[in-house]
Amino acid sequence: MSALMLFRKGVDSVKLWAGRFSKEIDKKTNDFNSSISFDSRMYREDIEGSMAHAEMIGECGIIEKSESQAIIEGLKGILADIDNGDLQIDMNAEDIHTFIEGELTQRLGQTGKRLHTARSRNDQVAVDIRLYLKKEVQNIKKQVKELIGVICNKAEEYAGAVMPGYTHLQRAQPITFGHHLMAYVEMLLRDVDRLECAYRHMDEMPLGSGALATTTYPIDRTITAKLLNFDRVSQNSLDGVSDRDFCMELASVLSIIMVHLSRFSEEIIMWCSWEFKFVELDDAFSTGSSIMPQKKNPDIAELVRGKSGRVFGDLMTLLTVMKGIALAYNKDMQEDKEAIFDAVDTVKMCLTAFTPMIDTMKVLTDNMRKAAANGFINATDCADYLVKKGLPFRDAYKATGTLVAICIEKKTTLEELPIEEYKKICDIFDEGVYEAISLENCVNGRKVIGGPASENVKAQVKRVKSIINI
Ligand code: ARG
Repeated sequence: MSALMLFRKGVDSVKLWAGRFSKEIDKKTNDFNSSISFDSRMYREDIEGSMAHAEMIGECGIIEKSESQAIIEGLKGILADIDNGDLQIDMNAEDIHTFIEGELTQRLGQTGKRLHTARSRNDQVAVDIRLYLKKEVQNIKKQVKELIGVICNKAEEYAGAVMPGYTHLQRAQPITFGHHLMAYVEMLLRDVDRLECAYRHMDEMPLGSGALATTTYPIDRTITAKLLNFDRVSQNSLDGVSDRDFCMELASVLSIIMVHLSRFSEEIIMWCSWEFKFVELDDAFSTGSSIMPQKKNPDIAELVRGKSGRVFGDLMTLLTVMKGIALAYNKDMQEDKEAIFDAVDTVKMCLTAFTPMIDTMKVLTDNMRKAAANGFINATDCADYLVKKGLPFRDAYKATGTLVAICIEKKTTLEELPIEEYKKICDIFDEGVYEAISLENCVNGRKVIGGPASENVKAQVKRVKSIINI
């Protein structure tokens, strides 16, 4: 009797579980249950994983070498046909794993059915997502590094461009535009590091975990790990199939990246306003208004700021899906993919638009310089000048505060206030004060590590460029 005849008569099902069931799945339930609309993007990884598994079970003598070879060739053919459009993925299939295996069996007959020996879709899907995300982490890392390079170039160009630094969004102390930009580079460097860490955690090969408890076949998991270029093999089969920490971790890292992009966007939006006018975005990265002809809107920056919400939502989805499910695999976990794929897609899309927007942005240094001159942002330096001449800081602070009040009353600035007025408040003052409070001197005097002096900014740019090889 052929193996086929062992199946119950009357159920001509393509479902993997045909045999146990006497009815086809309800059509609407099939749509609800199916993940093919969002997991079909992993077809390449699914095929790569299957090829490695086929090779390993062949090597270990679990199936004939000739069959293993035929399966690998069959899978290669399927991959080529999907790539070149000759094979359409059937959206009625339950998931990508079912579709590929079904297609292989159609092409190879009995031999195709041997592929799933010593494997479950639970370890199969676990390996597919890891393979897929490992590639995406590298893509995103490359994009973040590109952004770092673009910011570094701008920072180098504007290492000496004086602007006000803010606290509470009030003008506080003078810095340079280069220094301000390099703050974002530090954040993004940490993001690169976090991406690398997330990569390390997902670089673990779960195949061989089976459905939950491995298998009695004499498989060699190190062979598949090596073939698939994983750093190591997972050490507990329950964890192997039910761990999605790497998705949550990646979504956390991506959320932090979005926080950084969103803060940067917020500043760009402010800087574009007429109230600031520190920068002007290139026409190619701005939009107009349908009704107000004068408008030039920073839509890209606003969208990046807005899209951060999606990514945080994806992280929340993953945390919530995972928090209450008993070991090992549960179907809830199918919900991981849309969330993590959306987070990955969103971050990639944001970076694709954001980086050239920064690259082409025009910096209006005169406006920055003017804003820096009008907010008494050299008041701390005025007080420090008195301290360097021997006055205790608290007295110097009070004297300078009085001078600021006089300037406000006389509608002038510390730079323009005559020396006689200074002397009236404190007789230690002399003409040297004007040099001490010149904005350029205030900035360039701050040479300590991490300071805004233009030589510091240039050194920081050089250091970063050498770290990330640009
Ligand atoms: N589509 C499923 C998922 O994404 C694949 C694993 C199915 N395993 C199972 N036992 N139903 O999670």
